[in-house]
Amino acid sequence: MARLRSPTHGGNVYAASRDLGRGVHNLIDFSASINPLGPSPRVWRAIADSRDLMAHYPDPDCWELRHTLATCWDRQPEEIAVGNGSTELIDVLPRALKIRHLLVAHPTFSEYAAAMERAGGRVSAVYAKRAEQYMQPIGDLCHVLDTRRPKSSAIDGVMLCNPNSPTGQACTVDEIRRLAEVTQRRGMWLLIDEAFCDYCSDRSFLPVAALWPRVVILRSVTKFYALPGLRVGYAVAKPAVIKALRRQMPPWSVNVMGQAAALAAVNDSSYVQKSVRFMDRERERVGIMLAALPGCLVTPTYANYFFLEIPRGWHVHDLSAKLRDEGLLIRDCSAVPGANSRLIRLAVRSQRENDFLLQALSKILREHRP
Ligand SMILES: Cc1ncc(COP(=O)(O)O)c(C=O)c1O
Repeated sequence: MARLRSPTHGGNVYAASRDLGRGVHNLIDFSASINPLGPSPRVWRAIADSRDLMAHYPDPDCWELRHTLATCWDRQPEEIAVGNGSTELIDVLPRALKIRHLLVAHPTFSEYAAAMERAGGRVSAVYAKRAEQYMQPIGDLCHVLDTRRPKSSAIDGVMLCNPNSPTGQACTVDEIRRLAEVTQRRGMWLLIDEAFCDYCSDRSFLPVAALWPRVVILRSVTKFYALPGLRVGYAVAKPAVIKALRRQMPPWSVNVMGQAAALAAVNDSSYVQKSVRFMDRERERVGIMLAALPGCLVTPTYANYFFLEIPRGWHVHDLSAKLRDEGLLIRDCSAVPGANSRLIRLAVRSQRENDFLLQALSKILREHRP
């Protein structure tokens, strides 16, 4: 068990643009994993149509969006809270649910630890193992929960990122059910971040989560629907939990354009199908090419990114600096607890962009052997 630090995030194209003196549009960002097809065409129309609403405050209840999401998931609107990206919900969860000690599985998304730190709580961790291709350590999580004695500092919440970022590994619904049984038996919260689960919907716990009173599921509308700049995410849980969450949130945190865009996006089923089909194909193609890079190790992925270990002798800093000079941004995972100094996360983007990255990667690794 270790106290945690908070690493930085991918996706800061503005800082890279300032550093490199290049416009944001002259960068290719593989450090944030956003649907490479871009937003649904319906989103542009919805944004144009909602222009006049900008002179009003946004709907603080996100009424229409919540009703639509409730229909999508066969839940009640009272079981859904919409936030300014799922990050806002991650931030309020520890305070809203009075979670004091969270268990996570590293390497994982840094905001869980950051939110606990802001709320004055603490975090303990188990570690996914390199030898097991960073598979989700469900057995270890259950073991820690089952063997800890109940006392005031005992773990009272578990965060599972599924599929996990940055590894891309995802556990099955049966594995999550096993974890949920332990957490429910022990009266703990199980928080499941499904920010990337649109790419592996058969591994989503959302369709069965209604049976579990102390389970909260988080979904993001920014990644799969390519709206990170508009900031929309939601939580699904029992109405009392949703009420507690909303009490901690400021009013109007989801703006007019965000609500309109999210509503249009989630209603566009042909965009959803096209996006999943594209990613299934392109991810397989990129995975084969990455695995063929000498000395590189690719982790199996269920999401729209790869967790890649570069050859021995390299440090990610050197590789990412060289790629950055060419306008290619990657996610350096060397500071992520549970990762090593050779691990990076690469988004799967368009075929042309992926080929460009692969060529640059292969050339740098060949020509600059450490
Ligand atoms: C695993 C995971 N969860 C949640 C988020 C937050 O996403 P958003 O606030 O854009 O919904 C991120 C962002 O990178 C993430 O990687």
